[in-house]
Amino acid sequence: VNDLLSRMTLDEKIGQMCQVNFPLLSKTGSNESDIRDYGLGSLLSGGGDCPVTTNSVKVNTAEAWADMIDRFQGFAMATRLGIPMLYGVDAVHGHNNLYGATIFPHNIGLGAMHNPDLVRRAAQVTAVEVAATGVRWTFAPCVAVPRSEYWGRFYEGFGETAELAAGNGAAAIEGFQGSDLASPTNILACAKHFAGDGGTAWGTGRDGGMDRGNTVLDETAFRALHLEPYRAAVTAGVMSIMVSYSSWNGLKMHANTNMLTGVLKGELGFQGFLVSDWGGIDEITPGNYTNCVIASINAGLDMIMVPGEYENFLRILKQSVTNSLISMSRIDDAVRRILNVKFRLGLFERPYADRSLLSRVGSAEHRAVAREAVRQSCVVLKNEDGVLPLRKGIQRIHVAGKNADDLGSQCGGWTISWQGGAGGITIGTTILEAIRNTVCPTTVVTFSESGAGAAGADVGIVVVGEAPYAEYYGDTQDLNLSGADAAVIQNVKTQGVPVVTVLVSGRPLVI
Ligand code: GLC
Repeated sequence: VNDLLSRMTLDEKIGQMCQVNFPLLSKTGSNESDIRDYGLGSLLSGGGDCPVTTNSVKVNTAEAWADMIDRFQGFAMATRLGIPMLYGVDAVHGHNNLYGATIFPHNIGLGAMHNPDLVRRAAQVTAVEVAATGVRWTFAPCVAVPRSEYWGRFYEGFGETAELAAGNGAAAIEGFQGSDLASPTNILACAKHFAGDGGTAWGTGRDGGMDRGNTVLDETAFRALHLEPYRAAVTAGVMSIMVSYSSWNGLKMHANTNMLTGVLKGELGFQGFLVSDWGGIDEITPGNYTNCVIASINAGLDMIMVPGEYENFLRILKQSVTNSLISMSRIDDAVRRILNVKFRLGLFERPYADRSLLSRVGSAEHRAVAREAVRQSCVVLKNEDGVLPLRKGIQRIHVAGKNADDLGSQCGGWTISWQGGAGGITIGTTILEAIRNTVCPTTVVTFSESGAGAAGADVGIVVVGEAPYAEYYGDTQDLNLSGADAAVIQNVKTQGVPVVTVLVSGRPLVI
């Protein structure tokens, strides 16, 4: 690293600190050669950004991903020093941008398993599918400690305690990174979002909600709740950490020198690199981007997820160094950390996708791990009159509810698109299909979304719950089960059928 660093120009150094969302590689249209001309160190797909043809038709296959990222890598390898770029995605519950990838329960479901070993195995499976597409970095695990169900990212946390975040987060990191980061089936993990993202107050966030808001806590409480998961992540060897949009006691985390440099890199001894969130530095001093760049880099940020105006970012960063507003030693520390990770990943030796892994994407073996995780993530809230477990050989089951035969709603946010969506968005088994696959051949399974026609069944299984959402779109103070869902439950009940309700949601709801 030091040898390479000593040969790099300032332009080459700041290029490594710049991360660009690939669809935004644009002067006019998609200008991929900027990867070479600016020496961009990292690219990403935001939620839902998959490969497209030259006329912008989506081609969401593992091969197309590997072809696209290898093409980008070709530009990086064509730079003077041939420093490979590092590509990142939000593989937060499987390689969830990729059609046909194995999808797992979100972290809230994994936390409910109380089984870190299965969390580790889920991460290992995900790492293989991510690496198969030429991607070697996931922006996961989220080790937030969500303290309110009003937060739209509640389901991205493992649960409401620091212990759940720490234990499961460490297991996920070990699963993603393995014992040797250079192994072709291991990928760089990224603990996020540092820190206190799950402790913000309603009304202080985006659009008057909670997400990206302000966490008001004294230092003792802040450390106990929101810093502990990062101590565990650093101990588990995490080599990248993403900084939170949120503030602590009014100070933006992206500008918090004491926490980023003093505590995380100093006290906890974090050796990897810090990456901003998407446009996360822009909010430090709205309208004064130069100050945003200076404040964030000097606070300890090493790589900036710009993600679009990269020429402007690079110009301002270079100017700030030549004006001595950012020291060369700070730049060298950032670039050293980034290069160290790239060497450990084996990117210099093997910059391109390992195509031998493609056949493992969505494999039966991988899906068996996901099915086990789903099974263990289910939580029985109550069981009156011994209605559960259902006995084998039951005569007839009537299935109802909007979430019964809807794969997209079952997967939630961050699936194929950023917000997720209803319907057949990818490959998987709906709850209705699973019931049909599981019962005895003699059991009759009927279905109506409304519950009509349930009369005469031995039991009604009514599957209701939330529609998909992500980030601030999920902020709400109304956690009641919807009236429409309650009406379906009532409809089946009034037909004299015992009811089993299945609640598909990213958080506890008022039922
Ligand atoms: C989003 C999220 C972050 C994600 C990043 C890239 O806004 O806050 O979790 O990793 O942008 O998609």
